Amino acid sequence: MSYIERSPRNRTYLMCPPEHFTVEYAINPWMDTKIPVDGALALKQWESLRNTLTDLGHLVHVLDARPGLPDMVYSANGAFSVDGTVYGARFKYPQRADEAAAHQAFYSEKPDKWRFFAPEQVNEGEGDFAYLPAAHGGIVLAGYGFRTDPAAHAEAQEVLGRPVISLKLVDPAFYHLDTALAVLDDRHVTYYPDAFSPASQRVLAQLFPDALLADRSDAEAFGLNLVSDGRHVILNTEATAMGHKVRAAGYLPVHVNLSELKLGGGSVKCAVAELRA
Ligand code: ARG
Repeated sequence: MSYIERSPRNRTYLMCPPEHFTVEYAINPWMDTKIPVDGALALKQWESLRNTLTDLGHLVHVLDARPGLPDMVYSANGAFSVDGTVYGARFKYPQRADEAAAHQAFYSEKPDKWRFFAPEQVNEGEGDFAYLPAAHGGIVLAGYGFRTDPAAHAEAQEVLGRPVISLKLVDPAFYHLDTALAVLDDRHVTYYPDAFSPASQRVLAQLFPDALLADRSDAEAFGLNLVSDGRHVILNTEATAMGHKVRAAGYLPVHVNLSELKLGGGSVKCAVAELRA
């Protein structure tokens, strides 16, 4: 096996503390309103995720949590940015709709840094969009089937000026792209093939012949809902097998316990939006 030296790149992230996090409605198969959430534990776990990122040298901006928006902790859904251009979110479910404005306000405060575009089409930000700066000259991968409308893929392509590759998600357990596929470095991905339609699996195999393939148990442990800086791969503690897989591919797994956020149907990646200025 050839050894590849994986090098990190400093990142800027946006996170939102789970101060008002609860599971009071169910909009994905992981959410069960009868299972109680430990709010204090959720906050503690979130803080350790934030500290993990800052200890690795990354900059983490924090968006204030708003009451009445229990899913706001999943900041990845609030927008999608590429090279200073921000494609705003428009949530599928009314319970989360107001999160979009909070994210928009964050970018609009710094007009010298961000060009913000308000979307017409339903899309859930980085939950369903991923960017690979060094793959095929810079491409966007985009999921649809449960949340983001495929019309948003075309809209994102017009806003961002990058090819957007549409991928169809077919398993309700993996309802956002970031539960089924993750970007490991500027050109390398990992994914769970069966979360995608056969045609989309073919597209992924053609674009990424060197992808790290995950299996259903990796995906169920939220092992694909990871954040990577190109060397360190931050993933949920439950995802031990996925940790071994990324290590074998030359990355350094860093496990964090996000048991409470899993009750809302999310993990590391959902809680971290990357800001690409
Ligand atoms: N409860 C949230 C929802 O269903 C979880 C969002 C997870 N976020 C993500 N990027 N996958 O909308």
